[in-house]
Amino acid sequence: MSDYLAIDHIDQVFQRGAATSEVLRDVSLRIAKGEYISIIGHSGCGKSTLLNIVAGLLRATRGGVLLEGREVNEPGPDRAVVFQNHSLLPWLTVYDNVKLAVDKVFRATRSKSERHDWVMHNLDLVQMAHARDKRPGEISGGMKQRVGIARALAMEPKVLLLDEPFGALDALTRAHLQDSVMEIHQKLGNTVLMITHDVDEAVLLSDRIVMMTNGPAATIGEILEVPLDRPRRRLDLAADPVYIRCRSAVLEFLYARHRAPTLAA
Ligand SMILES: Nc1ncnc2c1ncn2[C@@H]1O[C@H](COP(=O)(O)OP(=O)(O)OP(=O)(O)O)[C@@H](O)[C@H]1O
Ligand SMILES: [Mg+2]
Repeated sequence: MSDYLAIDHIDQVFQRGAATSEVLRDVSLRIAKGEYISIIGHSGCGKSTLLNIVAGLLRATRGGVLLEGREVNEPGPDRAVVFQNHSLLPWLTVYDNVKLAVDKVFRATRSKSERHDWVMHNLDLVQMAHARDKRPGEISGGMKQRVGIARALAMEPKVLLLDEPFGALDALTRAHLQDSVMEIHQKLGNTVLMITHDVDEAVLLSDRIVMMTNGPAATIGEILEVPLDRPRRRLDLAADPVYIRCRSAVLEFLYARHRAPTLAA
C-alpha cells in the first residue's frame, strides 16, 4: 500500500510529578495522498493530542509519524494547522496575516508581486478578498475562520490538519464553510486530517471516518469508509441510503458502543 502519511504505533503518556496519564495507546493509521480523513470521538479522548503529534508540536512517547517516508519531528510548512480558536495575529490585517505565512514559505522562490497575487488568490478562494484591510477584531468569527483556512492553504501544505475548524460557528456559516472546504479539497487534492464532533460533517466531508474509543489509553475503535461520489451536495445526501447508513454507523459507535464516560451507566 502506498502510504503518504503514516501514523505508526503511537503511544502518548503525560507525566506530571508522580502522576502518569496514558492518553493514547497503539494508534496506527495509513493515509493515502488526497484522502479526506475525519477523526471523531468523545471529548477528552485524545484527538487534539494525536493531531498535535502529526503537526510536530508534540513528540509521541512511543511510535512516530512518517510523511512520504520521512519522519516528522517538528512543525513544518508541509503540515498546516487550523485550530478551532482561529489564531490570527490581532494587530495585523487580514491581508498581512496571510502574507506573513506566504513570505515565510515562498520568500526565496517567488517574487514580491507573485507573493502578493498568491495572497489575494487564497483570500478569493474563501471569499475574503473584500476584507483584506480589516483587522481580526473587525470581522466575524466565521470570517476569521475563513482567513485561517486561507492562510493554511496559501502555504501549499502537503497535509492540512484541521482541529474542529467549524466548531465555534453558527449552523449556516458552518454549512457554507464546509462547502468551501469540499470545493477546495476537490480542486487542489490536498490530504486532510480533520477532527470533528459533528457526525453529519464527518460523513459529508470524509473518505474515511476514524472513530476513537474513550480514554484513558484511547485508540482507534473502528474505521468507516464513506463510499459517496464527489462532488457531494448536502441537499441530495439527506435522503441517500448510503449517507443514512454511514451516519447511523457513526451514531451507533458513539452513543451505543462507546458512550461518553460521564453518560455511561
Ligand atoms: N500537555 C498535557 N499534559 C497533560 N495532560 C494532557 C496534556 N494535553 C492533553 N492532556 C490530557 O490528554 C487527554 C486528551 O486531551 P485532548 O485535548 O487530546 O482531547 P480531545 O479528544 O481533543 O478533546 P476535545 O474533544 O474536548 O477537544 C485529556 O485528558 C487531557 O487532559
Ligand atoms: Mg480537542
